Amino acid sequence: MREVTSAYTVSIHYDRRLYRQDIAGSIAHARMLAKQGIVSDADAEAITKGLREILQEIEDGSFVWRPELEDIHMNVESRLHEKIGDAAGRLHTARSRNDQIALDVRMFVKDAVGEVLSAIHDLRTSLIVQAELNAEVVMPGYTHVQRAQPVLFAHHMLAYFEMLGRDSDRFQQTYERADVLPLGSGALAGLPYPIDREFVAQELGFSQISRNSMDAVADRDFLLDFQSASSICMMHLSRMAEEFVLWSSDEFAFIRLSEEYTTGSSIMPQKRNPDFAELARGKTGRVFGSLMALLTLMKGLPLTYNRDMQEDKEGFFDTFDTLLATLTIFADMIAKMHIVPERMREAAQGSYVLATDIADYLVDRGMPFREAHGVVARLSRHAVERGVQFEELTLDEYRSFSTLFDEEVLAISVDSSVAARDVPGGTAFDRVNQAVADAKTQLVSE
Ligand code: ARG
Repeated sequence: MREVTSAYTVSIHYDRRLYRQDIAGSIAHARMLAKQGIVSDADAEAITKGLREILQEIEDGSFVWRPELEDIHMNVESRLHEKIGDAAGRLHTARSRNDQIALDVRMFVKDAVGEVLSAIHDLRTSLIVQAELNAEVVMPGYTHVQRAQPVLFAHHMLAYFEMLGRDSDRFQQTYERADVLPLGSGALAGLPYPIDREFVAQELGFSQISRNSMDAVADRDFLLDFQSASSICMMHLSRMAEEFVLWSSDEFAFIRLSEEYTTGSSIMPQKRNPDFAELARGKTGRVFGSLMALLTLMKGLPLTYNRDMQEDKEGFFDTFDTLLATLTIFADMIAKMHIVPERMREAAQGSYVLATDIADYLVDRGMPFREAHGVVARLSRHAVERGVQFEELTLDEYRSFSTLFDEEVLAISVDSSVAARDVPGGTAFDRVNQAVADAKTQLVSE
């Protein structure tokens, strides 16, 4: 029973990931204690030196992790005691594990956001590279997975670029909210020592200190921010993944994924399964799950710290790992994917995606849009019955549906349709070109 109960409370197998933050936080705390005359300079020096050695031991793998000591804080402190004796006992003066853990996790989140932002940046760069390499490629744009109107492939890539730009903003905001120092709150009420919180904030690179000690130890909003920003970003990646799965099928054949990112089937030799895209779509589920788990974990907790909050970390680490890996893989997968422009154009031409343009043509000649819509619907039925595309209809056939048609209607094409969408945010070639240029400027300035 003893094993079961201690295994239940242990967190060292995952919170050891916080060792760098935990040690940096302790060093800053010790320096502040000495500066304020709360501990002696000699003790603070011994503590700092001991902690630096422990950091080294952890990094070179010689540190012995002891589950019976439960968490990262106790593992480090106990080792410090072995190394420097009683002075180690002074480190925890004017501190509680409650403000210590809040500090560690905030510091970890700030670092994690930095890595995520850089991975998002790389993925956005890949999108723009593909957009530029395939600047002239026309494809069908879809609504309801039905071919709707022709668009530039680059326009489609830029849509992803926008989505990821909002993700970037959300992580930036996550950083700002994590960037508040909780240390100095003690267990919950503040501390009866003349501490200097601003000094610690400066040492550790925090731009603000928390204003309320109870909130500081009870708050995990910054983790929820991270989890929700991650969930939205994974939702975007999952939509992208879904398109890559569709596009790489024989039915679409718009792209071929690099062999690195596909796997063969064990019994069907012809197959190149888009496993990485599928797994990204699948792993999105666990990221959403961790967000829900943390919301549920927090929702019934009275102020301030409750041990339940130890359960905040595993889902967070998993989300961070999953998101970072997915972003990194997608950046490379997109850079290496092969576009098949002929197939995209063929799909755009081999359908009735010009119907809107023909209706717009009638509107241009004075017909109300609703009526034009009806004319083109009848015209489409006629073309479908004859088994031909709009481009193959004769002028006489057009004129039998409306006398407003003249030979200019025969010039309507996939390219003219794209060119006509010449509004800010539209798919016209020059607009997209400009959007690509703007995107590049933005990437450079980030
Ligand atoms: N391992 C704990 C956590 O992750 C650290 C804080 C423990 N504080 C306490 N009073 N037991 O939340």
